[in-house]
Amino acid sequence: MTRVAVLPGDGIGPEVVAEAVRVLDELGIEHGEHAFGGNAILAGGQPLPHETLAACRAADAVLLGAVGLLELEGAPVRPEQGLLALRKELGVYANLRPARAEGIDLLVVRELVGGLYFGEKGTRDDGTWFDTCEYSRPEVERIAHRAFALARERGQRLTSVDKVNVLHTSRLWRDVVTELGATEYADVPLDHALVDSFAMTIVTAPETIDVVLTENTFGDILSDVAAAVTGGLGLAASASLGDNGPGIFEPVHGSAPQIAGRGIANPAAMLRSTALLLRHGLGQGQEADALERAIDAALGEVQTHDLGGTATTSDVGTAVLRNLAA
Ligand code: NAD
Ligand code: IPM
Ligand code: MN
Repeated sequence: MTRVAVLPGDGIGPEVVAEAVRVLDELGIEHGEHAFGGNAILAGGQPLPHETLAACRAADAVLLGAVGLLELEGAPVRPEQGLLALRKELGVYANLRPARAEGIDLLVVRELVGGLYFGEKGTRDDGTWFDTCEYSRPEVERIAHRAFALARERGQRLTSVDKVNVLHTSRLWRDVVTELGATEYADVPLDHALVDSFAMTIVTAPETIDVVLTENTFGDILSDVAAAVTGGLGLAASASLGDNGPGIFEPVHGSAPQIAGRGIANPAAMLRSTALLLRHGLGQGQEADALERAIDAALGEVQTHDLGGTATTSDVGTAVLRNLAA
């Protein structure tokens, strides 16, 4: 059976995925590619074809590049809808987005299948367009459990980020997190922060932050901010996990249409996501550690333009493979 379902997607997705596939091949991990996103819309109409979803369900893990095509912005069916559908179908409610740099080691735990993205939306008769933010108690409980467990494992503090001074759903969020903290995770130091000032804290004092628990939309925004203070989107990886079944491993960045097709995208975020796939998706912790060390070593030797260098995407992949073999 194919162990890894590979979804290259659009823009720089296929370019960075190609480097990850070199690593899978080197490690002897079976994989198969499937249409997804804008290219799938252009080919047959749907961003998440049935065949692709079936292949993802049957795999041990999903490796995803990025989706998004300029020509489909504002179209009735968009590539991004396929990504949301895939996350929902696979039930990957916990999105782990680590951000590391000199003196900084934080982890954003983003709720991934609820909130504003999945609430009721539409257009009223009076012409008003609306999206609604909805959360149920079990939805908050399961992501909070995950974040507390991760903070405990790392021996660190948990900061829950909300907008309790304004939003109704944030009251549920804060109540549930406070309750769980008192009853089941009394050993994990817990604090709460409001999302606006917390965005500032990520910029001004990222070294004071450990594990961050937050809802879907806040987590989307804050994880790009965390990426920015730790070297940029070219380096930021993520793992999306459910309770069982395959996880999705993908960079935090998108399809970067401005630089697509030039072979200059940084594959490090994709390769770090591949390390997360080895660790969380295939249970190959040692291989994951080795790949992460190889990526760090390679980045000391060659840098793409986003890091101030002139290396190509495949130069970085080649350096990673060389360090992995060493
Ligand atoms: P983006 O993440 O694609 O790009 C933001 C900036 O970062 C751009 O300047 C880009 O050139 C740069 N960048 C991103 N990845 C890079 C890399 N690996 N190496 C070097 N530079 C890199 O975000 P955007 O421009 O806001 O969105 C573009 C498209 O991507 C949109 O269609 C959006 O919906 C989609 N998107 C998809 C995903 C995903 O598939 N997971 C995530 C975010 C955005
Ligand atoms: C991300 C992306 C997606 C999100 C979009 C493309 C649906 O921005 O993975 O961060 O908002 O979740
Ligand atoms: Mn995002």
